[in-house]
Amino acid sequence: MQQRKLGASGPVTSAIGLGCMGMSEFYGESDDSASLRTLARAVELGVSLFDTADTYGLGHNEALLGRFIAEGGPSRRQKMVVATKFGIVRAQGQYERRIDNSPAYIRSACEDSLRRLGVDSIDLYYCHRRDPAVPVEELVSTLSELVREGKIVSIGLSEVSVDTLRRAHAVHPVAAVQSEYSLWSREPEQGMLQACAELGVAFVAYSPLGRAFLTGAMDATQLEPGDFRRHNPRFVGEAAVQNQCLVQELSDWAQRKGASPSQVALAWLLQKHGHVIPIPGTRRLSYLESNVAAADLVLSAPELAQLDQLFDPAQVAGARYPEAGFAGIESQRG
Ligand SMILES: NC(=O)c1ccc[n+]([C@@H]2O[C@H](COP(=O)([O-])OP(=O)(O)OC[C@H]3O[C@@H](n4cnc5c(N)ncnc54)[C@H](OP(=O)(O)O)[C@@H]3O)[C@@H](O)[C@H]2O)c1
Repeated sequence: MQQRKLGASGPVTSAIGLGCMGMSEFYGESDDSASLRTLARAVELGVSLFDTADTYGLGHNEALLGRFIAEGGPSRRQKMVVATKFGIVRAQGQYERRIDNSPAYIRSACEDSLRRLGVDSIDLYYCHRRDPAVPVEELVSTLSELVREGKIVSIGLSEVSVDTLRRAHAVHPVAAVQSEYSLWSREPEQGMLQACAELGVAFVAYSPLGRAFLTGAMDATQLEPGDFRRHNPRFVGEAAVQNQCLVQELSDWAQRKGASPSQVALAWLLQKHGHVIPIPGTRRLSYLESNVAAADLVLSAPELAQLDQLFDPAQVAGARYPEAGFAGIESQRG
């Protein structure tokens, strides 16, 4: 697997990471044993960046990753770059959230994450969402103290504006910005990707497969009752029908290329920008293996341009989140 750097001063990771969120929440029922097998295969295949957050399954996702690390011992831990996040506070069973970036909250969240993950330090610690009540300089000072204390190795920010990134980076080097970026969510192209390149910050692309919509393998009308996508504007009604036409075109394009739509979606991200690290989420071995293979799919410059055009943002219907999901998001809504 090719390697990419998490910022000028951060650790080196595999060019494609693994998003662990769906192993605990949002995309229907999951099974810990199957998730643990997928995690083990990821390490075997050379995936080293593992993405979680304290809010995923309200601690379940970090605890699952912690179990995986503990079962593999120090040699497994050495092969992993563990990224987690703080800042979204939710009650059990609730999607609605409040955002907290206060120093006391960050410190207690960090201790909780260290305990659940069972690690001495977190390799990449992201502010998941911004709380405007706390100036970004104060937020980053608290994170910088955690770096000095050895509790975290590097600092990340999720869904922030370019202005916030620049102010944060002036206080302490930011290793990575993580925001939604995929063929159908192109907001980072409006300045953030360029700012990251200029500052030497990695850009971690979340939901790179459009939460499975871009894979062509899902039926948005057959989602389980607890699945968050049932309330995502892009997955319902007329918007879903319109978006499905784009995915059909992508599937046809991928077939001509001898690849799957997911592989094309991931290769597009990797090859457009040398500092982008996609973190596709999956609970399944077969999807994982197919996604990892996307690192070897070569797209020419004209092919990248064709894909850019196919998913012209004006053709994509629906917002990328339901209203409650926009809490603390500073970057463009899409
Ligand atoms: N910073 C943030 O605010 C934020 C927000 C959302 C997500 N994230 C992170 O980003 C990661 C990835 O995003 P995501 O999970 O939302 O979306 P995603 O990676 O775009 O899509 C995940 C979905 O696609 C399916 N899938 C994966 N590979 C596939 C393949 N080759 N063929 C067919 N289906 C495939 C998965 O199915 P199965 O699960 O059934 O295998 C899952 O339903 C998350 O796990 C999380 O760590 C961060």
